[in-house]
Amino acid sequence: MNSKLIVYFSHKGENYSKGKIVNLTKGNTEKAAEIISKISGAKLFEIKAEKDYPNKYDDCIEVAKKELKENSRPKLVNDIDITEYDTIFIAFPNWWGTMPMPVFTFLEGKDFSNKTIFPLCTHEGSGLGRSEVDIKRFVNGANVLKGLAIVGSEVDTAEKAISEWINKNI
Ligand SMILES: Cc1cc2nc3c(=O)[nH]c(=O)nc-3n(C[C@H](O)[C@H](O)[C@H](O)COP(=O)(O)O)c2cc1C
Repeated sequence: MNSKLIVYFSHKGENYSKGKIVNLTKGNTEKAAEIISKISGAKLFEIKAEKDYPNKYDDCIEVAKKELKENSRPKLVNDIDITEYDTIFIAFPNWWGTMPMPVFTFLEGKDFSNKTIFPLCTHEGSGLGRSEVDIKRFVNGANVLKGLAIVGSEVDTAEKAISEWINKNI
């Protein structure tokens, strides 16, 4: 068995980038996930919540803050059987210092034993935050590698960093 999967969460719409609001038609993490796929050949799987997050940045951060405070587990539209994958990239934006709650929903209750996990976070200043610690709480028996933090607004020039991170660890 030597198959690779990328699970990612990414939010389109308004976002804060280099001090101003921009409107993204493709999320930064989705771009990073596509770069990982190009380099590693891994299959892409998007984590999507049933309820869309608001397009407006100010509304989105409020919803995300409330979900984090309530430790909520938003329902997802789909799921994937991870049994056949031994390497799993988990890519997400930093939301309030950790992963968006739909990523928690995805991780919870799955068997990650003997899998290798590559955490990748896009962010606008806080790096990986608490995300690696949070991932480890859900993936018993997995080997969680040191994560990579990419500044979201610089993702278009991140291919070299992503490639080095993958090649160093794979
Ligand atoms: C709800 C929300 C919360 C965020 N919280 C943080 C944060 O705590 N620290 C940080 O550096 N960036 C934060 N950001 C910025 C995003 O992590 C960053 O723009 C990321 O690249 C967005 O990825 P995406 O386009 O794939 O959703 C936040 C953005 C949103 C929408």
